[in-house]
Amino acid sequence: MSNVNALYQQRIAAGDLRPDPVQQDVMPQFQRIADGLTADPVKRGLFRRAAPPPAPKGLYLWGGVGRGKSMLMDLFVDSLGDIPVRRVHFHAFMQEIHSAMHEARQRGVDDAIAPVAADVASSVRLLAFDEMQITDITDAMIVGRLFEALFAADVVVVTTSNRVPDDLYKNGLNRQLFLPFIELIKGKMEIHELASPTDYRQDRLQGSQVYFAPNDASARAQISAVWTDLSGGEASPLTLEVKGREVVLPAFRNGVGRASFYDLCGKMLGPGDYLSIAQEVKVLVLEDIPRLSRNNFNEAKRFVTLIDALYEARVRLICSAAAQPEMLYVEGEGTFEFERTASRLREMQDKDWGQSDT
Ligand SMILES: Nc1ncnc2c1ncn2[C@@H]1O[C@H](COP(=O)(O)OP(=O)(O)OP(=O)(O)O)[C@@H](O)[C@H]1O
Ligand SMILES: [Mg+2]
Repeated sequence: MSNVNALYQQRIAAGDLRPDPVQQDVMPQFQRIADGLTADPVKRGLFRRAAPPPAPKGLYLWGGVGRGKSMLMDLFVDSLGDIPVRRVHFHAFMQEIHSAMHEARQRGVDDAIAPVAADVASSVRLLAFDEMQITDITDAMIVGRLFEALFAADVVVVTTSNRVPDDLYKNGLNRQLFLPFIELIKGKMEIHELASPTDYRQDRLQGSQVYFAPNDASARAQISAVWTDLSGGEASPLTLEVKGREVVLPAFRNGVGRASFYDLCGKMLGPGDYLSIAQEVKVLVLEDIPRLSRNNFNEAKRFVTLIDALYEARVRLICSAAAQPEMLYVEGEGTFEFERTASRLREMQDKDWGQSDT
């Protein structure tokens, strides 16, 4: 086990990170948790077995986009050595919970939350969630009891979020039933705002090319370099559930998604799917946009819808294409509608495009 602050200082010394006093202020929180997890068992009299020390409070690290929350949490997880920890995207975790509950019910278990939570708790001491947000009523209605059970089993929870706890599931259906979860979070986690003035993601993209045409080897290499820089290189697929259907982003990490044109526009996806992708990613790397024409009209139509969704959500787009936006779709039905898409693609290349805050 190493010290999270030492890892942070190493990254600064290596020139990977810029020193940021606001990030530095989070270190004592991480250290407090690490100390709590490694504290000696509490001795209770000569002949009684030592009891495990009480679980330390977790950490709810929230703030605007690109401030370094996920980066800091990853450093913390890396510093924990052999403490059993699981780092997982919050949505992916909730999907696992739903399918485990479904299986349990099929086996005839009435109250599925308890055994599913026990199962999770049996293999981890600390859960590190990236991007806690609750938008779905099926999640909202179970998180209270689920987390109650996890905390009762002494699991420590660390999470990043763009929202202060009081704003979770804001304006959601039946929100009053969700409020106990907010109280639970406040009781079991320290709430810490990462109020750094710098959006480092935007900073890292500043001045770098985001639209590559033609899509040649050099474009591919440059896109891969940007992807590695933003995602840290490690990634896993992210499956989004949209109205009972599954929409897959083949690679995802720290708010950055990566897919090819055919992954997203070559399949039967519609506006709802694109909206949910746009809500999930802050940056989308989209490769291999081909020339569009009446021969691939359906793909082109979906592409228009995808770009509209990304534009509305102010997602940063990094893409490679067969041609410049205005030359992507020059003949056939739909060219008129495509003018708006081309102009949006242009605007989204602007260095100031993207989210600077929540
Ligand atoms: N101090 C820093 N110096 C340089 N780069 C940094 C610094 N802090 C974070 N970054 C980089 O900025 C990018 C965004 O950071 P990160 O993903 O941790 O932000 P975040 O707060 O989790 O944002 P979001 O809320 O959108 O998920 C990452 O590539 C990260 O490595
Ligand atoms: Mg993040």
